This record gives sequence, structure tokens and C-alpha cells, in this order.
Amino acid sequence: MKRVLISLATLVLLVQAHTFNPEMQTYMDSLKTQALRNNPDFKTFDYKRGEKIFTSEYIGKKGKLISCVSCHTKNLGQSGENVSTGKVIEPLSPAINPKRFSKVKNVKKWLRRNFKDVYKREGSAQEKGDVITYIVNKK
Ligand code: HEC
Repeated sequence: MKRVLISLATLVLLVQAHTFNPEMQTYMDSLKTQALRNNPDFKTFDYKRGEKIFTSEYIGKKGKLISCVSCHTKNLGQSGENVSTGKVIEPLSPAINPKRFSKVKNVKKWLRRNFKDVYKREGSAQEKGDVITYIVNKK
């Protein structure tokens, strides 16, 4: 019986998508509106597209190959390290680090900077929504 309950709990965890606080949900909704404005065929934010954005390497701002993984690692439940400064970066996963994706101001600021570090431009509304969807739902 205990085993059944444990597997049920695991299943619930696996299928449950992340829930944002109201401030963050409003931000996600605004990204969606913008994405639709840019592309009328846009349907919804996509985990797989987000994964590609997060893990692909580009020649970044400093002229070297870099990806989001370079600083945040592939395991979002673990701390990363800023490759430029050597400072520890707390885990990005909101399941492990509840401060993450709680303040829109922080999310906007770091996405702007970090997209420039890797892609040398700001992310589009769709790209930001996709990569957030990936980070918050990654197991
Ligand atoms: C050069 C290192 C570096 C790279 C590359 C990098 N980040 Fe970051 N990221 C940071 C630092 C430093 C912070 C802020 C420190 C902190 O919040 O712990 C941060 C914070 C964030 C946050 C803030 C989340 C929150 O709510 O606090 C998000 C989201 C994020 N990064 C996403 C990305 C994405 C997406 C990419 C790739 C496009 C990326 N990062 C690439 C260093 C990096």
C-alpha cells in the first residue's frame, strides 16, 4: 500500500506543471500576447524549444563559445558557477530554490543580460517564454 502511495505521489509530481505566483503569471501572459502579436500562428510556449535555447552553444559577447548551461549547468537543481566571475550561482529550479521566478524584475533583468551574454541580442517574447517554461518544468 505504501509503495502504491509513493508511486502515486511521484506520478502527481511528474505530471504537475509549475504554477507561477500572480505577478509572474501576468508576466507570462504578457509574453504570450506579445508572441502572438509577432507570430499569429503562435500556439503556446514549448519546453523543447526552451531546452534548445538553454543548451545550445553560441559565440557569445566575449567571442567564446558559451551557452546558458556554461554558468547554470544542465542540472538546474544544483548550483552553477559564473564563468566570468567564478561566483557561485544558486540553483535556477524553483522547486529547489523558491526565490526563483518569484520577482518579475529579477527575471527580466537577468534574461536581458544573459541572452546578450550568449546570443548577443535580447530574447524575443516567445524565446523568453519558451526558456522559462523549460527551466521551471525541468525534472
Ligand atoms: C556568464 C554566466 C551566465 C550565463 C551564460 C547565463 N546566466 Fe543566467 N544568471 C547568471 C547570474 C550571475 C545570475 C544572477 C545571480 C543569481 O540570481 O543567482 C543569473 C540569473 C538568471 C535568472 C534569474 C532567475 C530568477 O528568478 O532569479 C534566469 C531566469 C537566468 N539566469 C536564465 C538564463 C538563461 C535563459 C541563459 C541563457 C540564455 C543564462 N541564464 C545564461 C549567469 C549566467
